[in-house]
Amino acid sequence: MKKVWLIGANSDVAKELMLQMDGKYSIVAASRNYCAVKDFIKKKKIRRAVAVELDVCNKDNLESFLFSMQQPDIVIFSQGKLETGSNVGDYLDEMVQCNYVACIRIIEKVWKGMADKGKGCITGITSVAADRGKMSNKLYSSTKAAFSCYLQALMQEGEKTGIQVIDIKPGYIRSKMLISNRKAYKSVLAAEPSEAATSILQKIESGRSGTVYTKKIWRLIMWGLKLMPERIYNKMSL
Ligand SMILES: NC(=O)c1ccc[n+]([C@@H]2O[C@H](COP(=O)([O-])OP(=O)(O)OC[C@H]3O[C@@H](n4cnc5c(N)ncnc54)[C@H](OP(=O)(O)O)[C@@H]3O)[C@@H](O)[C@H]2O)c1
Repeated sequence: MKKVWLIGANSDVAKELMLQMDGKYSIVAASRNYCAVKDFIKKKKIRRAVAVELDVCNKDNLESFLFSMQQPDIVIFSQGKLETGSNVGDYLDEMVQCNYVACIRIIEKVWKGMADKGKGCITGITSVAADRGKMSNKLYSSTKAAFSCYLQALMQEGEKTGIQVIDIKPGYIRSKMLISNRKAYKSVLAAEPSEAATSILQKIESGRSGTVYTKKIWRLIMWGLKLMPERIYNKMSL
């Protein structure tokens, strides 16, 4: 049975993933809200899943997690920090650490072991916001862009070492992260957490590297936005 590290396991997408992976994978469900994940595993009777405390912004906690856990076959990054208010600068370090730096630290720890075996899988949930910066969430989108760019580079390396690398760009997901943005939450472009989890698992099980847009329409939308000349794009208020 493949061993999975599910980072940010209390996320709505991660919980759906646990339900869909139940019985087929052995899961280390790492979360800063360890008690909630433990209760979820118990309530849903998820087999072969163990809750482990991990706040990725706590460097000591992250180091001890990396030191004590067995090498995984698959790592899935589902943690994310989104702040957009006028005081967003107060969250700069936390957002950079959570959405980018911690992911790189974890990947650096497991990559060599995977490369030695010639197999493994790294899956990051980034965002369509990584494709082109927008004024409404410039800090979040730039942290996701940094991680997405790193994953893109890893895909090249993975091709040579046999490691599968996946970048998930979900668009809007009706999770607790989006709940305060009623317009986006209700949008027809929004996916359910279960839909996002299904698209992640399908891609992992395909064995192929690549970028996945949970709702296919997002690939088209972002393609259009990426091609848009700056003189037009800059006049928009996204
Ligand atoms: N919702 C969207 O529209 C959307 C769109 C694009 C991408 N994404 C990405 O999709 C992924 C899953 O998010 P979601 O939609 O399922 O939202 P979510 O339910 O809010 O999940 C985000 C998770 O990140 C965890 N987290 C935040 N800081 C952390 C830290 N320092 N250490 C460990 N965990 C931490 C949160 O923990 P707690 O449960 O303890 O708060 C939460 O469980 C995230 O990477 C997010 O950025 C979401």
